[in-house]
Amino acid sequence: MEATSVSSKWILHCMLFILAVQNTHCSVTYDRKALIINGQRRILFSGSIHYPRSTPDMWEGLIQKAKDGGLDAIDTYVFWNVHEPSPGNFNFEGRYDLVRFVKLVQKAGLYVHLRIGPYVCAEWNFGGFPVWLKYVPGISFRTDNEPFKMAMQRFTQKIVQMMKDKMLFQSQGGPIILSQIENEYGIESKAYGADGRAYMNWAAKMAVETDTGVPWVMCKEDDAPDPVINTCNGFYCDYFSPNKPYKPTMWTEAWTGWFEDFGEPIHHRPVEDLAFAVGRFIQKGGSFVNYYMYHGGTNFGRAAGGPFITTSYDYDAPIDEYGLIRQPKYGHLKELHKAIKLCEHVLVSADPTLTPLGNYEQAHIFSSSSGCAVFLTNYHLNDAAHVTFNNMHYELPPWSISILPDCKTVAFNTAKVGAKASEAQMIRTNGKMLSWEIFSEDISTINDDSSLVYVGLLEQLNVTRDTSDYLWYTTSIEISTSESFLRQGYDPTLTVQSAGHALHVFINGYLSGSAFGTKANKKFTFTGGINLQAGVNKISLLSVAVGLPNNGAHFETWNIGVLGPVTLDGLDEGSKDLSWQNWSYKVGLTGEAMNLVSSNGISSVDWVGGSLAINKQLPLTWYKAYIDAPEGKDPLALDLRSMGKGQVWINGQSIGRYWTAYANGNCSQCSYSGAYRQWKCLSGCGQPTQRWYHVPRSWLKPTGNLLVVFEEIGGDASRISLLKRLVSSL
Ligand SMILES: *[C@@H]1O[C@H](CO)[C@@H](O)[C@H](O)[C@H]1NC(C)=O
Ligand SMILES: *[C@@H]1O[C@H](CO)[C@@H](O)[C@H](O)[C@H]1NC(C)=O
Ligand SMILES: *[C@@H]1O[C@H](CO)[C@@H](O)[C@H](O)[C@H]1NC(C)=O
Repeated sequence: MEATSVSSKWILHCMLFILAVQNTHCSVTYDRKALIINGQRRILFSGSIHYPRSTPDMWEGLIQKAKDGGLDAIDTYVFWNVHEPSPGNFNFEGRYDLVRFVKLVQKAGLYVHLRIGPYVCAEWNFGGFPVWLKYVPGISFRTDNEPFKMAMQRFTQKIVQMMKDKMLFQSQGGPIILSQIENEYGIESKAYGADGRAYMNWAAKMAVETDTGVPWVMCKEDDAPDPVINTCNGFYCDYFSPNKPYKPTMWTEAWTGWFEDFGEPIHHRPVEDLAFAVGRFIQKGGSFVNYYMYHGGTNFGRAAGGPFITTSYDYDAPIDEYGLIRQPKYGHLKELHKAIKLCEHVLVSADPTLTPLGNYEQAHIFSSSSGCAVFLTNYHLNDAAHVTFNNMHYELPPWSISILPDCKTVAFNTAKVGAKASEAQMIRTNGKMLSWEIFSEDISTINDDSSLVYVGLLEQLNVTRDTSDYLWYTTSIEISTSESFLRQGYDPTLTVQSAGHALHVFINGYLSGSAFGTKANKKFTFTGGINLQAGVNKISLLSVAVGLPNNGAHFETWNIGVLGPVTLDGLDEGSKDLSWQNWSYKVGLTGEAMNLVSSNGISSVDWVGGSLAINKQLPLTWYKAYIDAPEGKDPLALDLRSMGKGQVWINGQSIGRYWTAYANGNCSQCSYSGAYRQWKCLSGCGQPTQRWYHVPRSWLKPTGNLLVVFEEIGGDASRISLLKRLVSSL
């Protein structure tokens, strides 16, 4: 009944729309060549801009830059966890105002690809799933599981209905031409066998039944059932064909670069290679290319997934993290789009014929009553080629495509970059020296009054439900005055096995040491001598999450925290297993509970000022200072190189996690690996992976902004500075 009323309402909208704009077709369809919008096959360029990764005051500028860069559409995921922080409580405000974002795209005259997911991966905390979803009884993610399917359907329908209510589908006159259900399910689909296939088919059917009037896609899902279009994600997609001859060839993620992990080098993708990849896709008959990312932005707050994904989500995208144009990437792609649009008509009306012109050289010719276009390709990595086509001679640089929209004149070559390179600089603002005050967490009394005491070690997420990155595990051990180590002057060794992601060990209130997982080894072991005294000693382990996993089969079952064993060696009795003692638990930090990051909570503790306090570089310390906004409109960043690891806020808004983890890796020159079909260009080895942290202008008042830093290990706050980011062309 309900479905009928929804669809008849939709038909009514649609008919009203037809009446209003009589010459417009009321749907988006497709055929083997392309998406068909208003009766026209289109070659479409799209770019991913994720609305929560920038601030609403940046959106219009980003969208305009995308339009000026020759894009037709903006693509975004929908991030379930930010929209439904607890079951049934929804948030579509501020950075989460999806409708406003879609309407701004519409206002700019661009289309939208809405990737509802609701699994999105996206290097986003828990892949976009709310953490509470894990605790729905009987749930199993992304498979043929009733509780999961019910929750997924409810959220998908809610988003679709929200878009329909605001008339945002193209079928209603709105900008949304395409939607995605699920995300890169192919690998799981196969691994989960019959359940995976059943779920995938269910998801497709459920999506189609929402009756949006625009096509649905599934990316990286070769078995996507009709009418859902399977699409490609990758560095290259020229090898890709849809699973049915009547579906268009679409590339939903053309990777413009890559994301970073704390402790890893920075990735670049040369624009020549990206343009070459796009050219290869179009010459093969591809008709939709979405750049992932076009603007990557920032993982504010605790939004980064991973674990260990950086707060910056710059992605080496054509628009940088701060919203500034990155050249020559932006300009070169703009020229590429222009050249392809010159022959859009013939590209969508003809099938390419391939003519070899040499060992490494090919012509892809499109010819129809609407004209002739040719792509001349040289696949050789190092050598230029001279080719003859239609009695004309052309020189083709290595690894390049020349586009001739009229089969005569070269409008563009992917390897010849005309756009001038830009260079980003971080410039000091001439503000006053910051006057810092500190508040140190009281570690000696941690868990003295804990309400959760448990015999054994608990999984971290089960206790925190991700309300904080931090969980204290505290136990005690009584040392007899007769212990040999007390006389002989050595320290017993504590060994702690952690399932992730970082750990700080405190003995009687003093930091004894830290250990960290890595991208390759999320599980790690702390081993260190600890200073124990006769009498009762308190062992406090602060386990720290650094972003919940966002992909992998059943990542919802992966554990974090201190799962043990925890053992102590060097006592007279030998090795002592502490795992099955009484452990008391405390979620989060005192400063978090007191809301020290906001002007309301700031006065609930006594802060200590003066250089003596600041220079101590204590662990688990809160720093606060008031800062004026630098003049002008240039984007701003905090330089946190002098700090260790922690989180930072301005006026109560979380800028994100910071970590001065130094990148170790091999920063060799760019090289192409055929096996991975990609160029590897890594830089920044021996430097902190992320030194600068974006402070959105809109979070600042002209004066007296409250800057709060929480440092886990120890850092020099006196050297924190606020910088302007400027981009100049070289
Ligand atoms: C979760 O924590 C509770 C204690 O709060 C414990 O009883 C339960 O066994 C834990 N479950 C898992 C799966 O760790
Ligand atoms: C844990 O603490 C309780 C209450 O103090 C006590 O009765 C119990 O024996 C302790 N258990 C262990 C394993 O130490
Ligand atoms: C770095 O990469 C280069 C080129 O691939 C290789 O020759 C070299 O051995 C690598 N160095 C390390 C330390 O891995």
